Amino acid sequence: MENIILQLSYLIGSITFIMGLKMLSHPDSARKGNIVAAVGMTIAIFATIFLYRNSAGEGLHNYGWIFAGLAVGTIVGTLAAKRVQMTAMPEMVSLFNGMGGACAMLISMVEYNHMQHGGGAAGTGTMLVIILGMIIGTVSFAGSIIAWGKLNGSIKDRTIPAGQILNFIILGGIVVLSVMMLGGMAGGTAVFYGIAGLAAMYGILFVMPIGGADMPVVISLLNSFTGCAAAFGGFLYDNPVMLTGGILVGSAGTILTILMCKAMNRSLKNVLIGSFGAAKTGGAQGTKEQGNYKEISLNDTATLMAYASKVMIIPGYGLAVAQAQHTCHELEKVLNEKGVEVSYGIHPVAGRMPGHMNVLLAEADVPYEKLLEMEDANDQMSGVNVVLILGANDVVNPAAKEDPASPIYGMPILEVEKAEHVIVNKRSMKPGYAGIENELFFRPKSSMLFGDAKKMLQSLVTELKQM
Ligand code: TAP
Repeated sequence: MENIILQLSYLIGSITFIMGLKMLSHPDSARKGNIVAAVGMTIAIFATIFLYRNSAGEGLHNYGWIFAGLAVGTIVGTLAAKRVQMTAMPEMVSLFNGMGGACAMLISMVEYNHMQHGGGAAGTGTMLVIILGMIIGTVSFAGSIIAWGKLNGSIKDRTIPAGQILNFIILGGIVVLSVMMLGGMAGGTAVFYGIAGLAAMYGILFVMPIGGADMPVVISLLNSFTGCAAAFGGFLYDNPVMLTGGILVGSAGTILTILMCKAMNRSLKNVLIGSFGAAKTGGAQGTKEQGNYKEISLNDTATLMAYASKVMIIPGYGLAVAQAQHTCHELEKVLNEKGVEVSYGIHPVAGRMPGHMNVLLAEADVPYEKLLEMEDANDQMSGVNVVLILGANDVVNPAAKEDPASPIYGMPILEVEKAEHVIVNKRSMKPGYAGIENELFFRPKSSMLFGDAKKMLQSLVTELKQM
């Protein structure tokens, strides 16, 4: 009976995980989706703790350790998630992903130890699962920690001399030692932990040189690694919910990686050999003379917008920093009252994490139908009278289309110059995330509206209301 309840709880865990993932695909249902999946997983976890029996019919016994671990994880996770700033979310995702990789790595190490000390020789299949889980989990853990450090600024981009060759040698070493271990030609704790050491080195070296605008691809790739490593844990323990969860995270991460690659115009091959950031750091860094830019007053901006028939807002990272999403929605409503049609052009990598702008604007109740994906926004751009760029920079940089020497060359951008007027709000002429200058600001159609996005939008709303 207990086993039936346990299997049922696994089924519930798997189904709710799939439902949750589906619900996460739309901002309206995303919060509920998260809760549904979390409840399902909680049921599966507690059912395992209390109902699992091994082949000898024994249940778990070290409850003290289990509940202490659960308590620490729950407290730290809850506090971290509650306190994190929206702008620091990618760092946290990276750190949490690294913890998932570390879990998969430790599971493999613990199971390897059991086998060593239990006396029984593991079959080749089991050993393969242990080694693969350990390698992928370790790469994911080490890589995610480096990504976390790079996103919070504590680790700088560093090009390693002959980095690609070194990466290949390390990968080769991992493969050779693993095959030897599986084939019985080498073995023992030293070789096993040697492979772990090489995997950690690979994780570090592969993320280290990647910088600028390329980080999101790496983060979602590491996310898919963690999913795969967890799935190997599911195989090892013959645990269906762990297997389903791992496979879903692994495949979702892979799909996201492919989508991000497309959005950044990078090939997956380049991501896997960890070469692109390094190869591109020597590009144009915006040192050339760009000419003059013109400024626009708040009053002129309000007039231009009030008499427009179509306005498109392009949100970027600066909007998130300023926490200006609610004021932005207010501007949209004021313009609507004046008969102006307002839409939002959303670049897939605007902000600092996938879907950043969608989440931010959904939080301010901006109707989802008003958010145009990049292709649709570009199609509609020529009919737009005023484009208002709010704290976006790289995602509207024409160098991505025009300058083959630019680090972001090839990245699709929002083609704002097709519109009649372009107004750029930011605080200064400083570059964006990729660290390159933006010639758009110096183009004839563009006018700069300097200031913090929130304060500027508040003043703009007041100005428009008085008109
Ligand atoms: P960015 O290119 O980073 O530009 C943001 C701009 O916002 C900056 O130029 C900054 O200029 C301005 N800003 C900052 N605070 C502001 C404030 N309070 N008010 C008004 N403006 C403010 O942003 P983007 O165009 O959204 O591009 C995103 C970049 O991040 C891309 O390169 C992308 O590849 C990268 N990235 C994306 C992700 C994902 S998955 N979305 C993850 C990691 C990295 P001032 O300092 O002059 O104000």
